[in-house]
Amino acid sequence: MAKKVKEEKIRVEIQEQYAPLFNMPEVRYKLYYGGRAGGKSYGFGDALLVLGRQGKILIACVREVQNSIKDSVYKLLKDRAEYWGFDDYRFYEDRIENIETGSRFIFKGLQDNNAQNIKSLEGVDICWIEEGQSISKKSWEILDPTIRKPGAQIWISMNRELENDPIWVALAKNPHEDTFIQKVNYTDNIYCPPEMKKIAERVKEEDYEQWLHVWAGEPVQEGDTKLIGYKEIYKALETHVENSVSVDLPLIIGVDVARFGDDKTAVARRIGRRAFRIRTCSKMNLVETANMIVNIIHEEKPARVNIDVGGVGAGVVDILLDRGYGSIVRPVNFGEAAQESERYCNRRAEMWGRLKEWLTSELPVSLVDCEGLSEDLTAPNKKYDSLGRLLLEKKEEIKKRLGRSTDVGDALALTFAEKFYPSNLNVFNNDADFVDDNVYTG
Ligand SMILES: Nc1ncnc2c1ncn2[C@@H]1O[C@H](COP(=O)(O)OP(=O)(O)OP(=O)(O)O)[C@@H](O)[C@H]1O
Ligand SMILES: [Mg+2]
Repeated sequence: MAKKVKEEKIRVEIQEQYAPLFNMPEVRYKLYYGGRAGGKSYGFGDALLVLGRQGKILIACVREVQNSIKDSVYKLLKDRAEYWGFDDYRFYEDRIENIETGSRFIFKGLQDNNAQNIKSLEGVDICWIEEGQSISKKSWEILDPTIRKPGAQIWISMNRELENDPIWVALAKNPHEDTFIQKVNYTDNIYCPPEMKKIAERVKEEDYEQWLHVWAGEPVQEGDTKLIGYKEIYKALETHVENSVSVDLPLIIGVDVARFGDDKTAVARRIGRRAFRIRTCSKMNLVETANMIVNIIHEEKPARVNIDVGGVGAGVVDILLDRGYGSIVRPVNFGEAAQESERYCNRRAEMWGRLKEWLTSELPVSLVDCEGLSEDLTAPNKKYDSLGRLLLEKKEEIKKRLGRSTDVGDALALTFAEKFYPSNLNVFNNDADFVDDNVYTG
């Protein structure tokens, strides 16, 4: 970077993406958005300090809430002016002035927008709105027509918060010719400190959705962090689905075997669109658990018993296989690769993802309540990996938050281990080879 502090001429280098701040006098609105560390504050600050030295202008730096000047970009401007060696700027308690050109920076919060406060902005040449995502609709509607000096510009720097941030809706949703919009992320900022890059890359690996918002500048998907919402569960709890008369569907059973002392073994049953008799039991050893499953197999004649083998469930499966139930009992490892690996990160995400689709399918589905069912089902937060595949919040994280495991939810999810069941596995009579895709017949 060339920086020559000699006589009045100082060479200032501005990143290319911020050049339109100087170059496009015909454009009224200049909106820069993106994630953290995109260089927005530095870019805007440097540009304004330079413009303030070229001629007399009034610059307003505004934000929605400004309790004290410390909340504003005052300090950033002061630091940057010192960095460049702009000794023609004077720093007062509430403003910054250039003694050569007479340019002035003022700082305001818009929230208490009384007429007087806003009137003082009428002569402004450039209004910099910092944290544009926080500006309320009301503030925007008062501010915009107040910046009315011919040729005046409104610059906005923002990290989008929601899909419909008022400024975004007003300027960027259907942009007009008088609006310039530029996305800037840390990846575009050649000065982005390596530590920040590291943090960003780590978040990208661990929580892609958060990275998308915080570092890539995308808005949060509203109310969208939970895989399954209460609404879907309640709808299913209120629905009663009769056993289909035309197609007999197989009974599928999911078993989540207790891993630790305080966990419970959960058993869930599902026939097509009907989940029922979801039960938990505690304090059983592996042999007792295996015996219970043998009884269920004989009495209820399931087509499948899917058992989680991530923990001690493997021992239960061994016993059952040894006793000759290999055609019915299926070991399922939550951590293994998904069958539909282009959609899901692992088996756990796949089964829960199918459970979610089942709950939200067009056709009615029914659930019968059991202790902890809705808490379990709504517990996992969803995430996506860098390939856009569903990934669930880790079991340990959920356990930390909930104080227990989602045994009941896992048991129900296990009934979705296989997407289709060939009819010849069916204990009932069924001519169709595979039953309707949408229903997760199981
Ligand atoms: N012109 C520059 N010269 C030197 N360093 C810079 C420059 N622009 C940005 N940086 C570095 O990049 C970092 C991020 O820049 P800046 O704070 O302007 O980003 P931002 O987009 O405003 O981010 P945030 O959304 O976090 O406020 C700065 O802390 C600084 O270290
Ligand atoms: Mg900033």
